[in-house]
Amino acid sequence: MIPEKFLQVLILGSGGREHAILRACQSSPLVGSVLVAPGNGGMSAETTCYPLNLEDVQATVALAKRLKVNFVIVGPEVPLALGVVDMLEAEGIPAYGPKKAGAMLEASKTFTKDFLVRHNIPTAQGAKFTELAPALDYLRSHSLPVVIKASGLAAGKGVIIAHTLPEAEDAVRSMLESHVFGKSGDEILIEDFMDGEEASIMLMVCGRSYVMLPPSQDHKRVGDGDTGPNTGGMGAYAPAAVVTPEVERRVIAEIVEPTLKGLVDEGIDYRGTLYVGIMVTTAGPKVVEFNARFGDPECQVLLPLLKTDPISLMYDCARGKLSPVDVKFKPGSAVIITLAAEGYPGDVRKNDFIELPTALPSDSQIIHAGTRIDSNGRLVTNGGRVLGAVAYGQNLVEAVNRAYSLTEKIRFAGMHYRRDIGARQLNREARRNA
Ligand code: GLY
Repeated sequence: MIPEKFLQVLILGSGGREHAILRACQSSPLVGSVLVAPGNGGMSAETTCYPLNLEDVQATVALAKRLKVNFVIVGPEVPLALGVVDMLEAEGIPAYGPKKAGAMLEASKTFTKDFLVRHNIPTAQGAKFTELAPALDYLRSHSLPVVIKASGLAAGKGVIIAHTLPEAEDAVRSMLESHVFGKSGDEILIEDFMDGEEASIMLMVCGRSYVMLPPSQDHKRVGDGDTGPNTGGMGAYAPAAVVTPEVERRVIAEIVEPTLKGLVDEGIDYRGTLYVGIMVTTAGPKVVEFNARFGDPECQVLLPLLKTDPISLMYDCARGKLSPVDVKFKPGSAVIITLAAEGYPGDVRKNDFIELPTALPSDSQIIHAGTRIDSNGRLVTNGGRVLGAVAYGQNLVEAVNRAYSLTEKIRFAGMHYRRDIGARQLNREARRNA
């Protein structure tokens, strides 16, 4: 048993996901104190935030040592891919998140494709290229649409679905010739397009032990009805019923178990979140992508659905002691609606003053992402995804209604958000009940 208030936690990150983790720390009986680096405007109102460049792994480890924390929770993928967990552990500081070898599942899409093929895990067929001419040749004999992915990390922007040959050729040229994603696009993957509905499966992993969180669904396009450009995520809900019990059984048997076995067999000691992006196709669930961290905004709806303390699970994963048997979830649904800044997902305007309600409706919370406190002490916009309106309900309808009534109490110039978060599932339920 870990004594109450034993953990002095440092959370790395500055988005909504990390704010949700901070909230979970605040209600964890294990956490004595929690600090954040670099944080955002909302987090700085709740705890001390330290400036930090998360790409500077040495500075990150130095900060953790200086603050004398005994547990670090790594939010985003970049420090994981740079090996921050390896370095923290070398200093005797346990950290939640995979080491560099495990983070390759997100940091290299070609590594992942080879891994999936090696272990017979269902996924789209794909071919990898580093040279322009063979990539263009391949495209010319390939059916459309086709998916072109920069292999490396590209902040969620490195995936292009091309519906025509010129679009596909442009995408390939932009990566291999114009290097729009820098080194991340020096190697590309050209994949078959998978038809179906996407869902996110989040696992808290420790070797072959894992806790599977309720399936969730992100809304990646900026506009209602899944229109407009891709974003980091305009909203999410959980549980997502597109993952039926039968789909879930197949995800476990055909994807999760072989992936964790494959990692162990290849000597990768994976401890942390494994995000499995799946496509539910007519032929069953297939892997779209792996990420080595919680999804954002999925995390913001998953942590509130855990009855078991998520921080204790993270700490157990980090120490190689995860025991998934007694993990409990709340019934009901959770929803987040992303409130985005003027211009998002393109060039965003910053420094718009944000008005928040003084009192929150029941079972609701406001999660901060792109916010900061300006020199006059005012809360202002500071990024594309500014805030998340999160609500819990006995069912999805109640959660959605609560989240939308919360959005009406929040104001900033240029604020925009989708009006149809959860609509796919709500429409399906309405058709079933008609
Ligand atoms: N919500 C998508 C992601 O976190 O990558």
